[in-house]
Amino acid sequence: MAEPIVLLLSGPNLNLLGERQPEVYGTATLDDHVATATTEAARHGLAVEHLQSNHEGELVEAIHGARGRVAAIVVNAGALTHYGWSLHDALAAFEGPVLEVHLSNPGGREPWRHTSVIAPVASGTIAGLGGDGYRLALDAVARLLGADGVLG
Ligand code: DQA
Repeated sequence: MAEPIVLLLSGPNLNLLGERQPEVYGTATLDDHVATATTEAARHGLAVEHLQSNHEGELVEAIHGARGRVAAIVVNAGALTHYGWSLHDALAAFEGPVLEVHLSNPGGREPWRHTSVIAPVASGTIAGLGGDGYRLALDAVARLLGADGVLG
């Protein structure tokens, strides 16, 4: 049987990781984070499909395409986290677990970053732990899916 798929979504500007404000986001590239997620997923018998987009509609369409096909979604929506209500609504129509990830801790930054429109439709949020967040998110997804037989 094919491995269950976890859709990893990366929002605007995350393609610039490694160059973009390394003092805030670290020096690892997005490819590095995708590799971290993929390795952790494989440990649990899961496969990762990744999409980065700077366009909200493209992310919405990827979430639509995940319905009935993908087991879980891990999303770092970048700045769309704070105002991308169409992502909220699309994720609300997705049946599986949703994990929100941030490299930085938006709650400790500018006030406009304190609100997440993703959080109300997420099973959980991992923030402020840098690239480790991707490993932890995939581990959490595996547990939520019972992929290890850890949880039903
Ligand atoms: C981010 C936090 C957001 O506030 C910001 O707009 C980003 C990255 C993070 O991973 O820390 O682009 O999602």
